[in-house]
Amino acid sequence: MPEPLTVLDTLRRPMRDLRVSVTDRCNFRCVYCMPKEVFGRDHAFLPRAEILDFEEIERVVRASVALGVRKVRLTGGEPLVRRGIEKLVAMLRSVDGIEDLTLTTNASLLADRAQVLADAGLDRVTVSLDAVDDATFQSMNDVGFPVARVLDGIAAADAAGLGPVKVNAVIRRGLNEHAIVDLAEHFRGSGTTVRFIEYMDVGHSNGWRLDDVVPAAEIAAAIDARWPIEAVDPSYRGEVARRYRYRDGAGEIGVISSVTQPFCGDCTRARLSADGQVYTCLFATGGHDLRAVLRSGATDAELVEAMRVVWSGRDDRYSELRTLETVNLPKVEMSFIGG
Ligand code: GTP
Ligand code: 5AD
Ligand code: SF4
Ligand code: SF4
Repeated sequence: MPEPLTVLDTLRRPMRDLRVSVTDRCNFRCVYCMPKEVFGRDHAFLPRAEILDFEEIERVVRASVALGVRKVRLTGGEPLVRRGIEKLVAMLRSVDGIEDLTLTTNASLLADRAQVLADAGLDRVTVSLDAVDDATFQSMNDVGFPVARVLDGIAAADAAGLGPVKVNAVIRRGLNEHAIVDLAEHFRGSGTTVRFIEYMDVGHSNGWRLDDVVPAAEIAAAIDARWPIEAVDPSYRGEVARRYRYRDGAGEIGVISSVTQPFCGDCTRARLSADGQVYTCLFATGGHDLRAVLRSGATDAELVEAMRVVWSGRDDRYSELRTLETVNLPKVEMSFIGG
C-alpha cells in the first residue's frame, strides 16, 4: 500500500474517518429524525439511478484511504435496508489501510444478518436504541417496533463477533429522560457501552429547540447519582464520546455533547451521501458532487485530487459557531447523511 498523503483542512485537521450513507431510506420513523409528517407515504426518496453503486462507493473509499482515512462507518438511513450490503462490506474489507470497518444500525434487521456481515469482514456494529421499555421506544420509532427484537439483534451481533456492541441513545427532554437510568441499568455489566447523545439541530424537519436538549452534564449526573462514575481518558484523539466508568467495575458509558461542549477542533470526519455528495460537516447546507466526477470517467488519481481539494478547503466548525441564525439554515437531513 502506498504511504497515504496527509491532507489537512484550513484548521489543520486531517481526514481520518469516512462515514458512508448507503441509502436515504429507513424502516423506522423516529420522531427526531424522520418524522412522519415530513417522511410520509409519498415522500420522494432518491431514485436508484442517483444512488452510487457498490463499485462507485469502493472507489471513493479507496481514494479517501489514499488521503489518510483509517476508519469507515456504513450508515443510512438504515444501512441494512440496502440490498446486498454484505457484498459492499466484503469489497471494503479488501481495501488495504482500513483499520476499523463498522456500521451503525437500528438493529431491526440485524438478528438474521449479523453472521453474514461478520463473515464478510465487518469489525463491529453500533446500535441505535433510545429506550428499553416498549411504550417509550415505540413512541420514538413511531412504527411500533418492539425493543425485544433490537435486543435480539444486539445478542446476535455479539455472538457473531461484532461486539462489544455500542448502543447510541438520543435523549430528548420530555420524551425519554427516564431512559437514561433505564438503559444504564439494563446494559451495566453486559459489556455493551451505552453512549447518550444530546439531541442535535441536524436537518430542519425535526423542529429542534434548545429546550429539548438534555445536557451531557445532566445525563452523567443522573447516572452518577445512582451508580457512581468517574471520567476515563479518550481511547483515541478526536473521540466523539466522553467516556466514564462505573466505580464498581460494571463497565463504561459515554456522553456525546455536541450541543453543550462541541468537539469540532478534533473533527476528522468526512461524510459521503448515498447520491455521492461529500459533506465536510454533519450540519453542512450543501455537499460536493463526487458522483459527477465518478461518472465523468475520472481516473483514480483524479478522484483522489477531487477529494483533496474538497478537504483542503474545509473550514467547518458548526457546533462551535451554533447560533439562533445557524439553527434555522436549510441543513441536510440526518437520515440523508447518516449521523
Ligand atoms: P466509535 O468509533 O464507536 O467511537 O464511534 P463514533 O463515536 O465515531 O461514531 P458514532 O456513529 O457512533 O457517533 C455517535 C453519534 O455522535 C452520531 O450518531 C452523531 O449523533 C454524533 N456524532 C458523530 N460524529 C459527529 C460529528 O462529527 N459532529 C457532531 N456534531 N456529532 C457527531
Ligand atoms: N440528534 C442526535 N442524534 C441523532 N440521531 C439522529 N437524529 C439525531 C439528532 N437530531 C442519531 C440516531 C443514531 C445516529 C445515526 O444518529 O439516533 O444513533
Ligand atoms: Fe432511521 Fe436511525 Fe433516523 Fe431512526 S434515527 S429514523 S432508525 S435513520
Ligand atoms: Fe465536525 Fe461539523 Fe460536528 Fe463540528 S459540527 S464536530 S465540524 S461534523
